[in-house]
Amino acid sequence: MPDDSKILCISGPNLQLLGKREPAIYGSETLASIHRRMVDRAGQLGARIEARQSNHEGEIVTWICDALGEFDGLVLNPGAYSHTSYAIHDAIKAVGLPCVEVHLSHIDGREKFRRQSHVAPACVGRVSGFGAESYMLGLDGIVGYLRAHEPRG
Ligand code: DQA
Repeated sequence: MPDDSKILCISGPNLQLLGKREPAIYGSETLASIHRRMVDRAGQLGARIEARQSNHEGEIVTWICDALGEFDGLVLNPGAYSHTSYAIHDAIKAVGLPCVEVHLSHIDGREKFRRQSHVAPACVGRVSGFGAESYMLGLDGIVGYLRAHEPRG
């Protein structure tokens, strides 16, 4: 792992409402609070993180494409775009950056339409079902992945 791996965390549509949105499913912590905790956790891991949210598929695609050369890895909660977006899948493949897919809820245990993620095949792993901790575990996962795949020499 480069000494200060730089991670980009992207959250998709409706996740700006975390804390208010169906708290029985998504918990009571706000996205801003999750982002603050990720910054702290990244510091403990010797990494840096930038966290963003967008309700627009094209903006998420642009952020992923622009991450090439700026970031070492991605933590991505595509929200409902997980189940619909080939464009986000293709963007991750296009840049070749390792990406961990995260979901607050256990998508495999919910409605049928949530059980398929079109983004998953472009990712190196997925954390799902641990509420806000899914983001922290996703961060641990991507930093560990980068460390394990550090070029040797
Ligand atoms: C979600 C799961 C998706 O199915 C849903 O559309 C979301 C949130 C999650 O974090 O559990 O918006 O990605």
